[in-house]
Amino acid sequence: SHLAVIAAKFSCGAPRSGAEKGPEAIMKTGLFKEIEEKAKLTVILDELCHPNHGSIVLSDSDVGNMKNAREVSEAAKRISNSVYQQARIGHFVLTLGGDHSIGIGTVSGTTKALRERFPSRDLGVIWIDAHADINTPDTSLSGRLHGMPVAFVSGIAKSAQKGKFDWLEKDHMINLHKFVYIGLRDVDEAEWEIIERYGIKAFSMEDVTKYGVNKIMDLALDHIGSETPIHASYDIDSLDPEWAPSTGFPVCSGLSLDEGLLIARRLHESGNLVALDLVEINPEI
Ligand code: ARG
Ligand code: MN
Ligand code: MN
Ligand code: MN
Repeated sequence: SHLAVIAAKFSCGAPRSGAEKGPEAIMKTGLFKEIEEKAKLTVILDELCHPNHGSIVLSDSDVGNMKNAREVSEAAKRISNSVYQQARIGHFVLTLGGDHSIGIGTVSGTTKALRERFPSRDLGVIWIDAHADINTPDTSLSGRLHGMPVAFVSGIAKSAQKGKFDWLEKDHMINLHKFVYIGLRDVDEAEWEIIERYGIKAFSMEDVTKYGVNKIMDLALDHIGSETPIHASYDIDSLDPEWAPSTGFPVCSGLSLDEGLLIARRLHESGNLVALDLVEINPEI
């Protein structure tokens, strides 16, 4: 069978550049050769390089409060298409970021593909992150789109602002009742309000410490339900900076390496994982 790897070399959604070099840093480890040999998978590599991949502020592309809106919208659209093309033919899709704004592309692409394949089921999404990334352009204090992807793929953020993100259709939108956070510990006040208003299932780092990560995975998978395809969006800053210091927004008291790996194992063992993002790895830090 096939593993589709999408290298999303992009960091315009973040305030500093470097995350566009994440995919190459991961590929250089030889991980994919190992996967091909040990798991007997054929890796299909799609390298998406955006002309303005770095996080330079191009003032003419700011739209309202959104920084680099044009770049992020265009990159996310390409990523969405690429993920969709692979997921619709049943390939597992691994997207390497890149900053987390690429989640607008990955989650929308998987949702559209799985909706086609399984019309009666909604996609489950597990967002493993220190941050909630659910600001809207109106609530965001930074204007950075890597803090907003969940708002875009759930329809909470109005998508078409001066033509940006107008490519997002109804078929791209997730059902927030099948969405779960794990690892939260740096969430803006307005984001907590959104989480409460929409009744989103959120397991903070405090919950992980209190119940243990295995129990949290039981609860997360229970919430999503069996027979439900799952997309996991794994932000490396969910891990404690002791284990993952090379990221733009490190937050203390995060997941240990063992906890982070256990989450990955439980996702695999669910048998329902169809796509995975690994984002916010910045080799320059
Ligand atoms: N909440 C902050 C913001 O909206 C930080 C977001 C950090 N996101 C990330 N993907 N590292 O700007
Ligand atoms: Mn195939
Ligand atoms: Mn994130
Ligand atoms: Mn984060």
